[in-house]
Amino acid sequence: MKTEYIISPSILSADFSKLGEQINVAEAAGAGWIHIDVMDGHFVPNITMGPFIVETCRRITNLPIDVHLMIESPENMVEAFAKAGADVLYVHVENSPNLYNLLSRIRSLGCRPGLVLNPSTPALLLEPVLHLIDVVMVMSVNPGFSGQVFIPEVTPKITQIRRMMDLINPEAVIAIDGGITAETLPATLQAGAQVFIAASAVFKHPQGIAAGINELRSCFPD
Ligand code: DX5
Ligand code: ZN
Repeated sequence: MKTEYIISPSILSADFSKLGEQINVAEAAGAGWIHIDVMDGHFVPNITMGPFIVETCRRITNLPIDVHLMIESPENMVEAFAKAGADVLYVHVENSPNLYNLLSRIRSLGCRPGLVLNPSTPALLLEPVLHLIDVVMVMSVNPGFSGQVFIPEVTPKITQIRRMMDLINPEAVIAIDGGITAETLPATLQAGAQVFIAASAVFKHPQGIAAGINELRSCFPD
């Protein structure tokens, strides 16, 4: 079976005065999902978007929306994000002590559960709940801001997680988030990533959004 690869542009670097237009351009250029970064100023040192932006994006596009919760007590907010139209709902392993409950709850709300590891978090923490997850997201920057530099030390962790998933949950996919460009993407793809999240490389590309997506997609095998 042919492996599917997906670019998920993060709207964190979009121009919010033209959000609808920019998402439509990204979709026409081949974006597969739309990534929304939710930050609360506690779990990460930045504040961004809430459920109403997810609901806005839901009206703009039919693409799956993957929502990255970088917030304290995500269990209090998953229902609101599910109702707003999230398709994939990611929580971080670092701040979620009751993952069995939380991941099952995300699925029962009609979303696909995703679990995120910060760059310094070991892959083994995933193992007990890997069967409950549809997407594992590996952070390749410390979360909080777009435009940071890719941390290459995370690449072997992708390989390690892919091996664990092949045994426990072969249908699940790995997403990589942070510092993804046409230069950094290929090694992560080689290691087993299938979903590539990019803010700056898409929305800040000097030749525009479509050029940014095309450049990333040119790294995919034919
Ligand atoms: C970082 C966010 C990322 C970020 C990626 O906390 O989770 O999704 O928007 O931005 P770039 O692609 O610019 O590194
Ligand atoms: Zn993100």
